[in-house]
Amino acid sequence: MKKAIPEPFKIKMVERLNIIPREERIKALKKAGYNPFSLRSEDIYIDLLTDSGTGAMSDAQWGDLMKGDESYAGSKSFYRLEENAKKIFGYDYIIPTHQGRGAEQILFPMVLKEKGSHFISNMHFDTTKAHVELAGGRAINVITRDALDTQKYGDFKGNFDIEKLNSTIREVTPAKISAIIITITCNSVGGQPVSMDNIKQVKAIADKNKIPVIIDAARYAENAYFIKTREKGYENKSIAEIVFEMFSYSDMFTFSAKKDAIVNIGGLLGIKKDTDLYNKCRSYLVPMEGFPTYGGLAGRDMEALATGLLEGIDFRYLEYRIKQVEYLGDRLREGGVPIQYPAGGHAIFVDCAKMAPQIPFYEFPAQAICNEVYIEGGIRAVEIGSFLLGRDPDTRENLQSPLELMRLTIPRRVYTNNHMDYIAETVIEVGKRAGKLKGFSFEYEPEVLRHFTAKLKPV
Ligand code: F0G
Repeated sequence: MKKAIPEPFKIKMVERLNIIPREERIKALKKAGYNPFSLRSEDIYIDLLTDSGTGAMSDAQWGDLMKGDESYAGSKSFYRLEENAKKIFGYDYIIPTHQGRGAEQILFPMVLKEKGSHFISNMHFDTTKAHVELAGGRAINVITRDALDTQKYGDFKGNFDIEKLNSTIREVTPAKISAIIITITCNSVGGQPVSMDNIKQVKAIADKNKIPVIIDAARYAENAYFIKTREKGYENKSIAEIVFEMFSYSDMFTFSAKKDAIVNIGGLLGIKKDTDLYNKCRSYLVPMEGFPTYGGLAGRDMEALATGLLEGIDFRYLEYRIKQVEYLGDRLREGGVPIQYPAGGHAIFVDCAKMAPQIPFYEFPAQAICNEVYIEGGIRAVEIGSFLLGRDPDTRENLQSPLELMRLTIPRRVYTNNHMDYIAETVIEVGKRAGKLKGFSFEYEPEVLRHFTAKLKPV
C-alpha cells in the first residue's frame, strides 16, 4: 500500500471535533430532510462538503490579520495584494472581490456581446453558469467524452475537446460567442486538470476567431502541480513559471481565493491589458462589491490573501496536498469503491451509479450514499448528480446527469492522513451495503437550485 506524504507543517492550534452517536445522527439527518446541506456543523465529525473557504490559514496569515489597513480608499493591504497578484499572474490589472462569484457578476455583463450570446467552457461551475445566464448569456460545455468515463485513466481529463470546440464555434459563429472560459482544474468532472498544451490550443483558436479567453482560476495552483508532474517538458519548471505561462494564454481571469489561496473569504478579477474594460469593471464594482481598493473585503482579508497566494504555489505544500487526496483515492480503490480515476486535485468523486445501480437517477443514488456515509461515520459529503442538476425548464421533468457522484472534498491543511484512513474505512463500509440502499423522493422542492434547501423522504 502506498503511504501518504507526512504533513509539511506542525499544528499550533486545534479545534475540537464532535462525534455524536449513531442514533442521534439518524435523527439529525431526518430533521435535515435527508439533505446534508441542512445539517448543523456541530453534528458533523468530518466535513467534506467543500474545499471552499474551509482551509486552515498559516501562522503568517493569522499574523497578517493584525496588519490589515482598513482605510476605505488606498489601503496599503490592497497594494500588497495587487503587487503579489500582478507578479504571479503577469497581469496589469487586479480588482479585489468578495469571492469568485463576485468577480463573475462584475465581468460577465461587461464581456457579453449581445443578449443570448454564448460562453463556451470545458465545464462551467454552477455559479459560473448562473452568472452567465443572469448576464443574459448561454453556457455551453465542450468537455471530452473520456472525462465522463470514471474508470478510464487520463492525465488531463479536464481538457477541452478541441474538435468539439471548433465545431461549436463554427455552428454558433464567432460573433455570437462572448468568451471562452477555461476552468482549471475542472471541478465539475472531478477536479481534473487541463494540460498546458490544451490551454495553448484553446487560446490559439480563440485568437483566430477574435474571442476573449477567461480563466476560471479557482484551483490554478493544483492545475500547475499536475502539469509539472504529468506533462512532458514541465518537470523542471517551477510552479510559479508554470502558472505564469498558463495565464499568458488568457485575457481575463475570475478567481475564488477561497480555494488555492487558502483564505476563508476573498476573490479577484484580473484583466490583462484592456484598460477600457478595466475602467468599466472598476466603475461597476463600486455599487456591486465596493470601492476598487477593497472590493467587498476587509483590509485584513486582503493581507491574508496576499500571503495565501504565495503559500498556495509552494511546491512542497502542493505535493503534500495532492498526494493526500490521491492517498484517499488509492485506499478507496483498494477497498473496491469506484471513483473518478485518477483522483482529482481537491476531491475524490465516488461513482455512485456504479455503487447503487438499483436506485434510478430520479431517486438520487449519490444522495442516498451521502446520507449513508453521514450515518455510518458522521462525515458530510455532497451530491453532484441528478439531484443537483434539477429539472428541464420547459417540461419540468427531472434531468438525468451523465454522472451520479458523491464528492468527498478535502479542505486544505485541515484534516490529517489519519482522517483520510477513517474516511476511506467509512465509505468502504457503506459500499458493502450500497447495493441494498433505497432512494429518495421530494417532500419539499424549491423552484431553483433545489439541492441547497430541498427536503427529501426515503422511497
Ligand atoms: N469556479 C469554480 C471552478 C468553483 O469551484 C467555484 C466555487 C467558483 C467558481 C465560485 O467561487 O464560491 O468563491 O464564489 N466552488 C465551491 C465548491 C463553492 O464547493 O466547489 P466562490
